Amino acid sequence: MGRLLLSLTVLFYTLSPINSDFVIEGIRNIQKRSIEKPANDIEVYSIIFNSQVTSRFAHNVITSRAVNRANISKEAIFNVDLPKTAFITNFSMIIDGITYPGVIKEKEAAKKQYEKAISRGQTAGLVRASGRKTEKFTVSVNVASESKVTFELVYEEMLKRHLGKYEMFIKVQPKTLIKKYEIEVDIHEPQGISFLDAKASFLTNDLLPTIQKSFSGEKGHVSFKPTIDQQRSCPDCETTLLDGDFTVTYDVNRETPGNIQVVNGYFVHFFAPPKLSGVPKNVVYVIDRSGSMWGRKLQQTKQALLQILNDTSEHDHFNFILFAHDGVPWKNSMMKATPENLEEAKDFVRGIKIEGWTNINDPLLMAVELLNQAHENKTLPERSVSLIVLLTDGEANKGESNPAKIQENVKKAIQGKYTLYSLGFGTSVDYPFLEKLALENSGIARRIYEDSDAELQLQGFYNEIANPTLINIKMQYPENAIADLTKNNFKHYFDGSEIVVAGRVTDNDLNSFIVDVKAEGADKSMKYTENIQLQDQDDVTEQQKYIFGRFTERLWAYLTIQQLLEKRLYADPSEKANLTAQALELSLKFKFVTPLTSMVVTKPEEKDKEEETLIADKLVEGQSTYNQPKPQRQFISHSPPRQASPVSYQPPTFVDSDPHFVINVPEKNDALCFNIQEEPGVILNLIEDKQLGIAVNGELIGNKHIDNVISNETYFGRIGIVNRAMKIRIEVTTEKIIVLNNKNKKKFSWQKTGSISSEGFNLVVNKRRNVTFSFGEGATFVILLHEVWKGHPLHRDFLGFYTMDDHTFSDGVHGLLGQFFHGVNYEITEVHKTDDPDKPDATMKLKNNLLTVTRGEQRDYRKNLKNGDKIPCWFVHFNGKGLIDGTHTDYIVSDIFSISD
Ligand SMILES: *[C@@H]1O[C@H](CO)[C@@H](O)[C@H](O)[C@H]1NC(C)=O
Ligand SMILES: *[C@@H]1O[C@H](CO)[C@@H](O)[C@H](O)[C@H]1NC(C)=O
Ligand SMILES: *[C@@H]1O[C@H](CO)[C@@H](O)[C@H](O)[C@H]1NC(C)=O
Ligand SMILES: *[C@@H]1O[C@H](CO)[C@@H](O)[C@H](O)[C@H]1NC(C)=O
Ligand SMILES: *[C@@H]1O[C@H](CO)[C@@H](O)[C@H](O)[C@H]1NC(C)=O
Ligand SMILES: *[C@@H]1O[C@H](CO)[C@@H](O)[C@H](O)[C@H]1NC(C)=O
Ligand SMILES: *[C@@H]1O[C@H](CO)[C@@H](O)[C@H](O)[C@H]1NC(C)=O
Repeated sequence: MGRLLLSLTVLFYTLSPINSDFVIEGIRNIQKRSIEKPANDIEVYSIIFNSQVTSRFAHNVITSRAVNRANISKEAIFNVDLPKTAFITNFSMIIDGITYPGVIKEKEAAKKQYEKAISRGQTAGLVRASGRKTEKFTVSVNVASESKVTFELVYEEMLKRHLGKYEMFIKVQPKTLIKKYEIEVDIHEPQGISFLDAKASFLTNDLLPTIQKSFSGEKGHVSFKPTIDQQRSCPDCETTLLDGDFTVTYDVNRETPGNIQVVNGYFVHFFAPPKLSGVPKNVVYVIDRSGSMWGRKLQQTKQALLQILNDTSEHDHFNFILFAHDGVPWKNSMMKATPENLEEAKDFVRGIKIEGWTNINDPLLMAVELLNQAHENKTLPERSVSLIVLLTDGEANKGESNPAKIQENVKKAIQGKYTLYSLGFGTSVDYPFLEKLALENSGIARRIYEDSDAELQLQGFYNEIANPTLINIKMQYPENAIADLTKNNFKHYFDGSEIVVAGRVTDNDLNSFIVDVKAEGADKSMKYTENIQLQDQDDVTEQQKYIFGRFTERLWAYLTIQQLLEKRLYADPSEKANLTAQALELSLKFKFVTPLTSMVVTKPEEKDKEEETLIADKLVEGQSTYNQPKPQRQFISHSPPRQASPVSYQPPTFVDSDPHFVINVPEKNDALCFNIQEEPGVILNLIEDKQLGIAVNGELIGNKHIDNVISNETYFGRIGIVNRAMKIRIEVTTEKIIVLNNKNKKKFSWQKTGSISSEGFNLVVNKRRNVTFSFGEGATFVILLHEVWKGHPLHRDFLGFYTMDDHTFSDGVHGLLGQFFHGVNYEITEVHKTDDPDKPDATMKLKNNLLTVTRGEQRDYRKNLKNGDKIPCWFVHFNGKGLIDGTHTDYIVSDIFSISD
């Protein structure tokens, strides 16, 4: 606890670039425009960020106001980056005096509403992308001429102490000059504030005084209200200099190691003992040196390790295990951090070399064994902390490679004796696996972003765990008077952090209670006792005039939800359901948008449009959510951004032409493609989901035979779809569509529009164009008919198959398209020129294969049946070898209705 870097970023901008004078950056000669007489556009005239922090709990309200000066309606966009550790608690839009509030609902309930809206094409997600420390909240709304709009977003979080301070990091980016721009932070800390600072990366020295900061006793205040002239990047400029980071840092007095706040029957206990001598630590660094670490990642890792060795205290012990196809220790025992040993270790680190494969299981067990032996041998100090730090950039593919089995093995070996931290370097790691591995062994997981500062990220992580000063901390409360305690036993306390425990006081008549904190220090056992006097109700009321009410209760709920969600990650299935139910109940009761809830906002009706449903979700690291809108493809140029329809949010995964397979990869805003070369008559499996009982197979046809032309192009001429549960079979050829339901047979011709609909199954034939069909919610497909003129000497009519929605499919879904429904993880490196400047080659790392791929282009024919829309993609050669599981012949089936049992 207390080790996560805390940050808060706010980024605002208004988007109305159509008539704006200053969208194009770098143009010097910008026409001066008076803010009092704005152009025909949306003017954001006020942005206010207001934060109230009470005992580390921050309640933040962002309000932005805009007016549409144009004589036609225009779109206003509200965009905020909020910390990943925060929960949104409210959002509303006020348009023409009418409030459109956000309603927090169970995710499943919100999902239903969302899907209903999807079918009308009127939906949008609000939380879109996740950055390093933040996630982006975006909403846009059409504002009528001369009308005003107000956006208000509220979110809450607990500031965690990290290396001796609490930090709020606000990203400021208004993009234009704003009449009223304000950041106001009020801090109330009952222990008294020991220092308070505020900085802005974009301010020059003469503007520093525009930040006002003051603190005295329990109260601190920061305000930043630059006037329009102070916002200008130069005296006559119309551009803003407000672009960068605004940071508020502070700490509280540590006269007593602990502080307890009780309000309205809930208490919060903060514990951070003053400087103590450090407890020796024994660390085994388990470092990945597999092929993918090659290059900058390895250099950065080496630099970070050298720095870590520099910072290691002499009372510490350490060792390294490097792993690739197996684990190799530096030394056969734990080494004391003597100057000589550290020097030797540095030479060893400098000499680390790359090898193939990734074996995670064996080196971790080896690390446990090293610590076990050293403890048995009494090589290590009796009072000490033993840690294993795993750094990897990939997934296990050697030795035990089943993630669940590795977790089981490691947990069994560690037996709760040591703490395991896992660092996932880059985006190819299986983050949920690393997270569970760490949490199960009382550690945490951290993602290291592949960037120029990766070295600093690694060192930063080390600094947080570098200095343990207490171990086995037990926070004890009177059992008969306290309930609903959050976690109260901790393995370590690291210098500069803080332990927080919250709970409920069950005895209303209690005047005081005693809390004991017992722990092991560097050389003796420690005990801290606190005697809490419960305040008079009058005092509490007085205090609440300044702070916001019920903060202890909300802080308790926030901590409890966080801990339940974390426990859920490694609980067994029976326990998981209960943890989920508890976390959901609290999320709804306290109105937090957590991974179990969503906030639904219904936008006002617009001309020619129905109302629109918006959803805010909490994004979860390493997982995707059902309704996280896939980024819109930039290259579908004729699709204007506001035509929000499911189509534009879900670029498809499909197969069309002679057969070109295109796999959409929304996470990367890119696509992969490959061809399959087979003989006419061959039937290929496209999708198979045994669990759902759904399969799609396609039969290849060739060109017409003409003398002197050797043509081996093939196309899909017949597609079979089977849904066992619904007892439906559909056969689509270039002439007709036949639907078999039980014994009923219905036949459609491509020459006529028609439809069928029953119990979740819908099929619509659009004359000579396409047939759309869906099985319940979340499995929707379109087959396009490509017609060539009757007398074409070579070509025949053929079909294209497009997946419009695949989120119903189980994890086991397979097939040439189906296996990619749940994402595909790859990395492109070494892009290099070829003879064709438009088709560079690159190396693609995928499932630990290194493939040479070529930039190419395929066509999506849904909107333009004749010419198609270009889809740039990375082409995988040789029938998709290395990308698809197995070889392409594994996908050949005997019948268009084949499905395995
Ligand atoms: C809106 O204003 C522009 C110029 O300011 C003018 O050309 C246009 O006719 C106006 N449109 C309407 C609907 O009044
Ligand atoms: C959310 O904010 C709106 C606008 O300020 C307010 O009317 C509403 O009561 C708030 N909802 C909750 C649950 O606090
Ligand atoms: C480690 O410390 C030595 C001497 O204090 C210094 O010369 C060296 O640059 C440091 N190494 C790193 C990686 O910081
Ligand atoms: C433990 O002690 C034995 C015997 O002294 C020695 O062989 C072995 O290397 C030691 N192991 C460790 C991990 O220190
Ligand atoms: C979870 O389990 C506990 C005890 O087993 C029970 O008291 C509680 O009601 C359950 N909570 C939910 C939300 O199911
Ligand atoms: C298809 O024909 C082209 C040229 O006509 C040839 O290069 C290619 O190898 C052929 N492919 C197969 C699978 O026969
Ligand atoms: C199917 O055809 C209809 C009618 O031409 C068209 O409106 C629709 O956009 C087509 N759908 C797809 C996904 O191609």
